[in-house]
Amino acid sequence: MTLRTLTVGLGDRSYPIHIGRGLLARAELLSPHLASRRAAVVTNTTVAPLYAEAVERAIAACGATSFRVVIPDGEAEKRWETLDRVYGELLAAQADRKTVIVALGGGVVGDLAGFAAATYQRGVPFIQVPTTLLAQVDSSVGGKTGVNHPLGKNMIGAFHQPLAVVADTATLDTLPDRELAAGLAEVVKYGALGDIEFLGWLEEHVERLRARDPEALSRAILRSCEIKARIVALDEREAGPRALLNLGHTFGHAIETLEGYGTWLHGEAVAAGMVMAARFSARLGRAPESDAHRLEALLRRAGLPVAPPRLPADRWLDAMGRDKKNESGRITLVLLDRLGAATVEKNAPAAELEAFLAGR
Ligand code: NAD
Ligand code: GLY
Repeated sequence: MTLRTLTVGLGDRSYPIHIGRGLLARAELLSPHLASRRAAVVTNTTVAPLYAEAVERAIAACGATSFRVVIPDGEAEKRWETLDRVYGELLAAQADRKTVIVALGGGVVGDLAGFAAATYQRGVPFIQVPTTLLAQVDSSVGGKTGVNHPLGKNMIGAFHQPLAVVADTATLDTLPDRELAAGLAEVVKYGALGDIEFLGWLEEHVERLRARDPEALSRAILRSCEIKARIVALDEREAGPRALLNLGHTFGHAIETLEGYGTWLHGEAVAAGMVMAARFSARLGRAPESDAHRLEALLRRAGLPVAPPRLPADRWLDAMGRDKKNESGRITLVLLDRLGAATVEKNAPAAELEAFLAGR
């Protein structure tokens, strides 16, 4: 696919999302942000041997220098202690406030390196170079950065927008199938929350997506980024509609926290969480039962789990009670009115929710 560029419109903090094959080598995408600067390439032990050299060559071609910071792989590493190690390596290398952090990897690297950028010396610039489907369609866009806490997912963080997102779709060639499917969960999310036509297209093409058909993947990434960029531009700090992007996430984050970070992949937990949100919406009479079945069928075909783990209702409620969308002790949920239309419900009926979680 030829290079496609979208813009996240945030005034003087607007930035491009570049999408296409072979972009890691395209120094001209980095040079507006890096010329005669120093870059810290933050990546992990899996991605570094695959792609770090290509990125470092492109940085050198911009006339910039770079050093590498490599963290261990895994969701369990998205924590304070790993972040502290990154600060230590930045300081040891004498990174200054002009140093640009280049986050090379999936959502874990992007979130953690982005939070390092938001906080190191009160904030340094950063560039997202996402290498998973999930990161290319979701986590690299929008400026949410942070780490997990043992008591809750993404509980420590900051909004910090990147200078640019460079999504090289060729990097997906090396992504394990399970990780590709996890990314498809977030792609399906965009259709479910606001674009029924896109959802229909996904139903037609899910097998092509799982087979990594480059055309189909590019189209899915582009449409996902268009939807996310539009919502982020409307509501950068989640005062309103951005919360829709959390469809399935209140249940999903509880699954990740309660089962131990990394046991369920984020996208897997979101898939099961979206089915829970759809079923709960149907139970409340807000959405047709058939829509919950339709969503479940698509996620199943995408290779994703659709049934939540069996957990006592009080543990669900405890974990969901710490969600960032909650206000005044009330659990906020994103619910479906129908497939393709979601709403934020700040007053989810507590007794109904408890009965639903208890399987009654
Ligand atoms: P991840 O970062 O753990 O990457 C998944 C796995 O794929 C890892 O083992 C990684 O090393 C490996 N990998 C990465 N790129 C590869 C490649 N090209 N080839 C082979 N292996 C590769 O997981 P993820 O699914 O990318 O991201 C999940 C994280 O993103 C979660 O922590 C979630 O909370 C976060 N997230 C953040 C936002 C946001 O707005 N900031 C949105 C959605 C998700
Ligand atoms: N993934 C949710 C958001 O970016 O708002």
